[in-house]
Amino acid sequence: MPPRRREGRRKRSLAVFPGSFDPITNGHLDIIGRGLSVFDQVTIAILLNPEKHPLFTVEERVALIREAYRGNQRVKVDTFSGLLVDYAERVGASVIVRGLRAISDFEYEFQMALMNRRLNPRIETVFMMPAESYSYLSSRLVKEVFQLGGPVRDLVPPAVERRLREKYGAVRPAPTPRRPARAGRA
Ligand code: PNS
Repeated sequence: MPPRRREGRRKRSLAVFPGSFDPITNGHLDIIGRGLSVFDQVTIAILLNPEKHPLFTVEERVALIREAYRGNQRVKVDTFSGLLVDYAERVGASVIVRGLRAISDFEYEFQMALMNRRLNPRIETVFMMPAESYSYLSSRLVKEVFQLGGPVRDLVPPAVERRLREKYGAVRPAPTPRRPARAGRA
């Protein structure tokens, strides 16, 4: 007779959290934390997309995420190309986690989730809402704000802020010159 599985031993649940992560933000970390409260392991899967022109190379993005999760055995970082559902199947994940920040995210996410389900009905998409304080946060805005001289300290992990400073340090705009004072009345 084949050996029976010991009572109580269950398969580890693995979720994939896919995205561009250019760069990873505290909003992403928030969603990953929520994912870890439901799944045993979360694999952060960075899409290799030659059509996009990211600020951070894929190696940099992997390194920044690794640094944010140093010592955490339940979070892995990987890259993928091709269909997300094929990647998920290959690594043994049955769930795709996506963050939903606002209604504006919904339509795109809904389309993707249904297309992914059509492509592979064994993979389920689970949406998670970040803390309200991150509901407006995106990688694109972080880059824009930093480039224009705004603070991003509470929006990204410290290593990301450091790398942004290294990348943009020299090109941050000088403050707008003050208007010349109007000649006063005599
Ligand atoms: O962080 P992003 O850019 O919103 O992530 C988008 C991502 C990577 C999840 C999406 O573009 C994707 O899954 N691409 C892989 C290609 C694929 O599977 N396409 C069909 C899904 S509808």
